[in-house]
Amino acid sequence: MNEHLIDDKIKPFRLVKYFTVTSLIVIFAGTVVLSILNTHWARAIQRQNSEDYALLILENLNHQVFTQFVLPVVLQHGEIRLRNKEQYERLDKVVRNTLHSFKVEMVNIYDINHIISYSFNRELVGKKNLGGTDYQKAISGQKTSRQVQRGNFWEILLGVPKESRLITFAPLRAERPLSRMSGPVLGVVEIVQDLAEAYQTIFRVQILVVSTGALVMLVLLLVLIFIVKRGEGIIERRALERLRLKEQLSRAEHLSSLGEMVAAVSHEIRNPLGIIRSSSELLKKKVSAFDPKNTIPDIIIEESSRLNNIITDFLNYARPQSPNLAPCRVEEVLEKNLTHLASQMEQQGYEIHRSYENNLPEIMADATMLYQAFLNILINSIQAIQPGGKIHIDLSSNHEAVIVSFEDEGVGIPGDVMEKIWDPFFTTKETGTGLGLGIVKNIIDLHGGDIQIRNRSDCGTQVVIILPLQQGGQ
Ligand SMILES: Nc1ncnc2c1ncn2[C@@H]1O[C@H](COP(=O)(O)OP(=O)(O)OP(=O)(O)O)[C@@H](O)[C@H]1O
Ligand SMILES: [Mg+2]
Repeated sequence: MNEHLIDDKIKPFRLVKYFTVTSLIVIFAGTVVLSILNTHWARAIQRQNSEDYALLILENLNHQVFTQFVLPVVLQHGEIRLRNKEQYERLDKVVRNTLHSFKVEMVNIYDINHIISYSFNRELVGKKNLGGTDYQKAISGQKTSRQVQRGNFWEILLGVPKESRLITFAPLRAERPLSRMSGPVLGVVEIVQDLAEAYQTIFRVQILVVSTGALVMLVLLLVLIFIVKRGEGIIERRALERLRLKEQLSRAEHLSSLGEMVAAVSHEIRNPLGIIRSSSELLKKKVSAFDPKNTIPDIIIEESSRLNNIITDFLNYARPQSPNLAPCRVEEVLEKNLTHLASQMEQQGYEIHRSYENNLPEIMADATMLYQAFLNILINSIQAIQPGGKIHIDLSSNHEAVIVSFEDEGVGIPGDVMEKIWDPFFTTKETGTGLGLGIVKNIIDLHGGDIQIRNRSDCGTQVVIILPLQQGGQ
């Protein structure tokens, strides 16, 4: 029931949590999708750039080959014969010098018969018909670019194929000095560029973007979890506190009506009880005259005064009076208590150890009430220790309060009992009412003080009472 109530209170927070977590997941998924789109977009740009770049290289190569190789060789030898080692090496030098700073993987130069006359790969020289339709288009004056990729579905989707090449074919033309018109086609040049490395770079950048996004989301998520946990903790504590207060209130209400009834009944019992007691005292006198050994009147007297004490306890608990505050010395009240208990203590050999601070301040208190409170505590201690045991009473002060500490070397209070000692009518004693500590608590509360009960580390119990010097900060 309680958990259900608390759950209800925390629910709105849960909604916020789910909403935020979902938003984070959606944002992250969006980042991934955007990043994939971005990869493809960057790849398209990269491809376009490479194409433009290839055409530029080809134009330059065309010019260099024509001016540095075709012209001088034709002038010198009358014709171009690449089987001639000297000519081949001259062309190789021109090509390599032109391309040395460009990233070109392969260059093939075809003659007009579709035979490779020059290649970076010497083994290809002399091979026929390897250019396909690209060659055909180039020989007719058209430039073409084609991308060749190799990789599985995911590699292609993510933009990191195992191999990616851009193959460009362009005609090799004769140049006409001082003319913008291009000359006749002398052959075809094919260049191959490796795009895999560029694609890898793009992919790495995207990975960086996605992992940064993931990291940011993770940090946000952790911050969120932290905030939600704290928030929930606070709400839960508040809900529990509210519940506790509610329970306390209903218990107090219940007790107060019970108290009213008990007080009324007790009051009615008191009068006949007084008559029983005085009559039994009279009876005792009369009986003792002819039967001195008869103890029945004593028993009646004893039991009726016990009953009277119990009723006084009930009334004290059920109808706490408002304190009659006056300047009061705690040590004097305590001494009165000890004098009252002196004969009993002497009989049973209890030892009292006092340790009172010098010049203890006066406090504003109701001395009769304090007397009652100290008495209940001392009686509890006496009941807890063996005859001959010790009780230590400590009195100290600070600028706000007087602190009274009672320590006994008795049996102490087990954990399960400790939880209930403040409950009215809770007792572990055969003849107890279980109201002693309740009355003490009422009295200390009425004085704006505080009381704590704990077990001592070795044995027995310590009761600490803090009594403010003034009431209500006056
Ligand atoms: N000094 C103590 N040592 C051990 N147990 C204690 C001590 N003081 C209180 N208790 C425990 O707390 C319970 C409640 O104490 P409380 O004074 O309210 O009632 P009681 O002593 O049982 O009855 P009553 O005071 O009405 O005679 C006791 O029954 C006892 O178990
Ligand atoms: Mg008691």
